[in-house]
Amino acid sequence: MTTPTIELKPSSSPLSDAEREAILANPGFGRHFTDHMVTIKWTEGRGWHDGQLVPYGPLSLDPATNVLHYAQEIFEGLKAYRRPDGTVATFRPDANARRFQASARRLAMPELPVETFVEACDLLVQHDKGWVPAHGGEESLYLRPFMIATEVGLGVKPASEYLFVVIASPAGAYFPGGVKPVSIWASQDRVRAVPGGMGDAKTGGNYAASLLAQAEAAAQGCDQVCYLDAVDHKWVEELGGMNLYFVYGNKIVTPKLTGSILEGITRDSLLEVARDLGFESVEERVSIDQWREDTANGTLTEVFACGTAAVITPVGTVKTDGAEWTQGDGEPGAATMKLREALLDIQRGKAEDKHGWMHVL
Ligand code: PLP
Ligand code: COI
Repeated sequence: MTTPTIELKPSSSPLSDAEREAILANPGFGRHFTDHMVTIKWTEGRGWHDGQLVPYGPLSLDPATNVLHYAQEIFEGLKAYRRPDGTVATFRPDANARRFQASARRLAMPELPVETFVEACDLLVQHDKGWVPAHGGEESLYLRPFMIATEVGLGVKPASEYLFVVIASPAGAYFPGGVKPVSIWASQDRVRAVPGGMGDAKTGGNYAASLLAQAEAAAQGCDQVCYLDAVDHKWVEELGGMNLYFVYGNKIVTPKLTGSILEGITRDSLLEVARDLGFESVEERVSIDQWREDTANGTLTEVFACGTAAVITPVGTVKTDGAEWTQGDGEPGAATMKLREALLDIQRGKAEDKHGWMHVL
């Protein structure tokens, strides 16, 4: 694998400080983008080449570009946080880089070296540092690395050319309601991923497939859809863009990875953070019936969803065919909020980084 160097072509017309500050005052999620992006090409026989930091702007694609037809695409999501001393750090970028490689293998795409992925993210954050929101709040700079097949042609085969891009977007709360419990529709007939499919890859197709189920959740009056496994239709997998955790008093449980669940970096980190806080944390299968029964008998005290964009979001009401229940009193639970604060404190540089997760720039 070749490791390209990234050439700088900084923007000639970045936004003014005042324009940027106005956006940072209320960034929303994924609505505004910073002044630059990093692009790196891959060509069969040549490997990775032409790494560049360029002004943020449109990509020009031939209408017959492979990705537009057969969706050979993968992406990542990670955040850069402002620390109390004004410096900036990203959270576990190497873990995102490795997952990006795993997604690339699944989609028959070339693997970007971990160090190039991290260097590309670093360079963009360093250049657009003014876009990293101030320390203290929940805001951060969300990085979106992605790769598309750019070969022109309609043959169905792994492409011979690819483009890797990193863009960045200042991010506030993913759910506009802030830390308010979300309601969940546990779909009995829509599935997100099947055994042997692409569920454990971060590829656009999985999100396209989730949109109808998400619309059905909304029609049921719910915020999010929860997917059950595709074989027995009873084992809880995950939400469209988040993993799930179940709190049994001092024990927290997340569904065991099956190949059809995305291996979340927040999920993985929380297994450790929970242990640090004195919880027992385990990966086990949880069925939708167990979820309902254990809530009714009071042993399952809280449920929360977790992911980079959504951090930790409590689950309030759960609805499925023929049943509906509420976790606890419908308010964010104590364990959920404790884990949330502990993780955010590490990410924002307020607590000791004993796992070596923060990558300070
Ligand atoms: N599951 C899905 C389907 C996702 O899209 C995400 C978001 O990236 C997650 C889980 C959580 O993963 P992470 O914690 O790495 O953001
Ligand atoms: C993330 O949490 O990074 C995600 O990718 C979830 C969603 C925005 C797709």
